[in-house]
Amino acid sequence: MKKGYFGDFGGQFVPELLMPPLLELEEALENIVATEEFHDELTAILQDYVGRPSPITLCKNLSTQLGLDLWLKREDLNHTGAHKVNNTIGQALLTKRMGKTTLLAETGAGMHGVATATAAALLGLKCVVYMGAVDVERQNVNVRRMELLGAEVVAVQSGTRTLKDAINAAMRRWIADQKDTHYCFGTAAGAHPFPLLVRNFQAVISREARQQFLDKNGKLPDVVAACVGGGSNAIGMFHHFVPDASVRIVGVEAAGTGEPGCYNSAPLNLGTDGVLHGMVTKLLQTKDGQIMPSHSISAGLDYPGVGPEHAQHHASGRVHYGMCNDAQALNAFLTLSRTEGIIPALESSHAVGWVMENAEELKGKSVLVCLSGRGDKDMGIVEDYLK
Ligand SMILES: Cc1ncc(COP(=O)(O)O)c(C=O)c1O
Repeated sequence: MKKGYFGDFGGQFVPELLMPPLLELEEALENIVATEEFHDELTAILQDYVGRPSPITLCKNLSTQLGLDLWLKREDLNHTGAHKVNNTIGQALLTKRMGKTTLLAETGAGMHGVATATAAALLGLKCVVYMGAVDVERQNVNVRRMELLGAEVVAVQSGTRTLKDAINAAMRRWIADQKDTHYCFGTAAGAHPFPLLVRNFQAVISREARQQFLDKNGKLPDVVAACVGGGSNAIGMFHHFVPDASVRIVGVEAAGTGEPGCYNSAPLNLGTDGVLHGMVTKLLQTKDGQIMPSHSISAGLDYPGVGPEHAQHHASGRVHYGMCNDAQALNAFLTLSRTEGIIPALESSHAVGWVMENAEELKGKSVLVCLSGRGDKDMGIVEDYLK
């Protein structure tokens, strides 16, 4: 495999001024992240502060209703309420070891921003978070949490004022401010080595989930599924199952309103090859290569691109990528809340929604879904939809 690529996808398509910190990060991945000392310190924080290992839970009521065994990997039970914290603790620890003082981040749903602000507070780093103005509105609870944790939140007014624009603004800031600042990227996308770095920190999900499922069932699950925004919870959930040929792996993209021609956030199903945020990947774009607006009821999936490793899994056929639309995700949000007492993030609701929509085909199977986060942040959006 070409360095920094997953098949034909990945690479480092950035302005020349961003090459020095990317090369510095590549070196840090080899010389710091790969050491036993770093691994031990990270493992101790994940255990004592984040609360890992997160359990797996059998959803007895919904399983009976659907005629299959639905298991959840409970990333919603992590400190700060989502999988994002696995990655930010890792990157914050790395930032300290690299001798830098400031964490820069972008955020969509706000969970990555909260997780970065939390890691910064824990490790004594400064924190600046860029967030699209639309997301500042729709995920306001998380803006308040970030500020409480001591972070500066910058509302981005350009473009569609969502995640894509927050990433652009954060990258510009990193170009200007790279000496003391590490860009704590929130998903398994972007220029090399970010997709590798983030997958490295998120693979803890499947390392635990595979063993937990084996311990409880004496066999592997038939299906493993996760929602795909940039792709970090999914790539973390898939990683240790990829070599298991018997396991069907499913990534779930957001189909938006689901109407033909409407905006969506499903670049693997509906996009074409192109370059965005430093990587070659599948993108929602016009024939002329202009990035198209994306839409999803969940801010965390509202992104026109996807991490390059997913583009490769899609191309090779190892992973199947399905879709779930806003209404189906909303139905899953309400159903899981009422049948199991678990309020899922709207992002994770897409993965549960895909299982519910495909229950007939999945009858009798065991299905393990990554519940990437909890849904408290989405109460306002859901209440507005139900009005
Ligand atoms: C709870 C939750 N799940 C999933 C996502 C999507 O990101 P990713 O595809 O990187 O897991 C987000 C992003 O904000 C999120 O907050």
